[in-house]
Amino acid sequence: MARSTISYACTECGAVRSKWSGQCDSCGNWNTIEQQVTTGNRGPATAAGMTQTASRRIVDLQPLCGTPDAIERSGFGIAELDRVLGGGVVPASAILVGGDPGIGKSTLLLQAAASLADREQSTVYVSGEEAAAQIQMRAKRLGLMSSPVQLATETDLRAILDTLDTKRPDIAIIDSIQTMWLDSIESPPGSVSQLRGTAHELIHFAKRTGVVVILVGHVTKDGQIAGPRVIEHMVDTVLYFEGDRGHQFRILRAVKNRFGPADEIGVFEMTGLGLQEVPNPSALFLSDREAAAPGSAVFAGIEGTRPLLVEIQALVADSPLGSPRRTVVGWDSGRLAMILAVLDARCGLSFAGQDVYLNVAGGLRISDPAADMAVAAALLSAKKGIPLETSTVVFGELSLSGALRPVAQADPRLRESRKLGFSDAWVPLRAGIRENSGMRIREVLELREFVDKILASRQPGGRQPDAVPGG
Ligand code: TYD
Ligand code: MG
Repeated sequence: MARSTISYACTECGAVRSKWSGQCDSCGNWNTIEQQVTTGNRGPATAAGMTQTASRRIVDLQPLCGTPDAIERSGFGIAELDRVLGGGVVPASAILVGGDPGIGKSTLLLQAAASLADREQSTVYVSGEEAAAQIQMRAKRLGLMSSPVQLATETDLRAILDTLDTKRPDIAIIDSIQTMWLDSIESPPGSVSQLRGTAHELIHFAKRTGVVVILVGHVTKDGQIAGPRVIEHMVDTVLYFEGDRGHQFRILRAVKNRFGPADEIGVFEMTGLGLQEVPNPSALFLSDREAAAPGSAVFAGIEGTRPLLVEIQALVADSPLGSPRRTVVGWDSGRLAMILAVLDARCGLSFAGQDVYLNVAGGLRISDPAADMAVAAALLSAKKGIPLETSTVVFGELSLSGALRPVAQADPRLRESRKLGFSDAWVPLRAGIRENSGMRIREVLELREFVDKILASRQPGGRQPDAVPGG
């Protein structure tokens, strides 16, 4: 008989240990460790009743020089979604779509399912969270009632797999993986063991039959149910659906893709009639920008392959607190601490005794290192009360020495800025500009030089910094 062993796994990162502890020593989260019972000695995913057979099995070894078939993809017909997937879905692939509860995952996938079904691909949508009537109501709201999507409401994975095996659709959507359970695993649905076990079965099914499997996963903050990070390594593609609930914009971001570029984004807007595509997001993230105000800088960024202009806002205020606040929305807080340290050590601008708030407008989250200089510009502008010219964009990566480093893809950044009506750009020296975008380029070698020029432009009689037309 198979032997049961008890171990403890983190619901956030999936790290397994032999003892319980309050904090996970691998990801640092508190109260996310839970007990898991494993049958056999092969780990939860493959545990159920596996026994080693006595006969030896020899695996086929192949040369590298085979002729692989060209990857054939089918698009959803939703351009923003297809772009993120690198053109569409590849047969037999497993895709994970993660995101906060209520962000719009079910809405996106129902729209995607309907679009695909309308293109004569057979599509099964399995919901373990909502009753059929609820999903039909959503379909009605989205105007998708006549779409030939096949709907199931079930959480027993064994039954779902048997059904899919019989029907063999082109694509199966499982919403959500955290509600699915296998009776061979003792832990409750939503636990690390169930999540790993059910995901493993579904992925194995995809590889065996060629059906594309899309798994929806909720991101959790409290550790009550295991987060999708636990299965990220098992799937081919990981997409995260992000956004701020207070804003209508939603970003679909590829964080891993075995069949296409990672870091690509798709932009949607949540409306009363579901998610609408936003083909020109730059204009949208800038649209509600106020007239020249201190603390605002426009960053010419790149997300994936797409140039994106965003406003970075900073506020600096005297703090009544012993240790002043550093609050960041949409950017990395560690990176903010670094920029503040560089401004202090290399430019003599100290933020000690002051609260600093930094916000990326529109609910966007940026990860492009070229945002450093735009953040520094917003902080400088907020601290000194000097508005930057509204016709100006900024980009460049900052090193600890205070030097500005060139960043990739300067040309598309400038082209997009020009397209949206900007005329001036602060860029690092030797930024790798090859085209004449029509922008006036202001090159800076060091952050200190940038700070001095901005401050000088505000002195009585100070003149605008030198600009080189063209580039
Ligand atoms: P949902 O897709 O259920 O989120 P998730 O599956 O990620 O938990 O979306 C829920 C939110 O979206 C809900 O607050 C209502 C809103 N919504 C709209 O604003 N417009 C719509 O057309 C639909 C269907 C939902
Ligand atoms: Mg949902």
